[in-house]
Amino acid sequence: MSQIYDLIVHNINLATLSEKYIQDDNPYGIVENAAICVKDGKIENIIANVEQQSGELETEDAIDGQGYWMSPGLIDCHTHLVYGGNRANEFEMRLEGASYEEIAKAGGGIVSTVKATRETSKKELFDLAAKRLSYLIDEGVTSIEIKSGYGLDLETERKMLKVAKDLNEFSPVEVSKTFLGAHAVPTEFKDRAEEYIDLVCEEMMPQLHSEGLIDCVDAFCEGIGFSLEQTQKVFEKAKSLDLPVKLHAEQLSDLGGSRMACDYNAWSVDHLEFLNPDDVSRLAESGTVATLLPGAFYFLSETKLPPIDELRKQNVPIAIATDSNPGSSPCLSLLLMMNMATTLFKLTPLEALKGTTINAAKALNIDSKVGSIEIGKQADLAIWDIGAPAELSYRIGGNPCKGVIKNGEVILSKF
Ligand code: NIG
Ligand code: FE
Repeated sequence: MSQIYDLIVHNINLATLSEKYIQDDNPYGIVENAAICVKDGKIENIIANVEQQSGELETEDAIDGQGYWMSPGLIDCHTHLVYGGNRANEFEMRLEGASYEEIAKAGGGIVSTVKATRETSKKELFDLAAKRLSYLIDEGVTSIEIKSGYGLDLETERKMLKVAKDLNEFSPVEVSKTFLGAHAVPTEFKDRAEEYIDLVCEEMMPQLHSEGLIDCVDAFCEGIGFSLEQTQKVFEKAKSLDLPVKLHAEQLSDLGGSRMACDYNAWSVDHLEFLNPDDVSRLAESGTVATLLPGAFYFLSETKLPPIDELRKQNVPIAIATDSNPGSSPCLSLLLMMNMATTLFKLTPLEALKGTTINAAKALNIDSKVGSIEIGKQADLAIWDIGAPAELSYRIGGNPCKGVIKNGEVILSKF
C-alpha cells in the first residue's frame, strides 16, 4: 500500500464536512479512526475503522495522527492582507470618541493606508504580507483571498496584486486575487468620484486584467465608499470583461448593494449588518454566499447584527473571514473569527467551521476542488489537538493546530 500512495495519515478522526458523509445524526460528516491516503496532491482514499487494517498502513511515509482531529484546510475568503503602515493612531482616536466614518471623512481611514502603501516598496509589501500570512497558516489556513484597494492608482494597484500573485507562487497557500480599485476615492480625485470610477473602469480594470492579475472584482458600496450607481458601473465593466464580482455591502447602512450584486451573480456579498431580511431571498436565488466579518463588527463596536435567522431559513451559505486590514479588522486569526461568529453572531460551531471551509470555498468559487475532505478533492488538510470539532470555535487563543497539509505536502508539522 505504501507504494501506491504518497502520504497516509492514520489514527485520525475526520470532520469531513462532505455531503458524502453528512447525515442528520452526523452533521460534521465525521469519520472516526480513519486513514486518509493521498496521491499526486489529491485525496485518493478514506478508510474508516482502521484498527483492523493498520498492519497494511504502517509504512514509512505514514503519519500517526495520534487520535487527533483533521478538518479541511481553512480558507480565509476576505482579506486586505497587503498594505503599508498601520492605523493604531486611529484606533486611539476612536477610543476617544471619533467614529470610523468621521475619521474617514476627515481624511484618515482607507486613504491614509493608501498613502503608506504607495510609499512602501513591492519587496517590503511582500515581506509584510508574508509575515501576516504565516500567522494564518499556523492556524491551518491553506487558501486565502487578497484584495487590492490601497493603491487607487494603476501603479500601486498593480504592485499590490503582484504581491498577491507572488504570495500565490512563493508561499505554500493558494491566493485568489481581487481587484478593489473602487475601495475609496483617492485624495487627488476629491469631489470627482465619477471621474475616478471612469479611471477604474476604463483604465485600471482592463489593463490589470490583461496582465492576468484579477480573479474577481470587488467594490465598497457605502456612504463613505461608492454609490449604488457607481458600483453598478464597475460591475458592468467586470461583466463585459467576463470577470466575476463580489461586494462590500450593507456594512454601515443599507444602500441595496447586495440586491444589485445578486443581479450580477456575485460570488459573495460581505459584511451585511444592515442587509434587509427581505433581500435574503435574492441571495438564495443567485447562489451568492453571505460572508460575515465578525472582526470588523467587533473592532468597530457595531451593534446591529446581520439577518442571520433569515439567511439560515433560506439556506444561504454563510462564510466567515478575517477581513484582515489595518483599519476595521487588524486580525490575523481565523480561529478567533470562528469564536466571534459563535459568540457575537450566534452561529453554531458547525456553521462557523463550514464558514471557514466549504462555504468559504464557495465564496471563492473553488469548492469543486477544496473545502471538504472527500475522495478526488485536493489534499488541503489541517490537524488539530482537540477532543471534538466544536472546540475550534470554543477556544479563545491557544492554537491547537498540529499540522497543515497543502496539496498533499506537509507545510507545517508540530508532531
Ligand atoms: O472591509 N469596508 C471597507 N474596507 C475594509 C476596511 C478597510 C480599511 O478601513 O482600511 C473592510 O472593513
Ligand atoms: Fe473588507
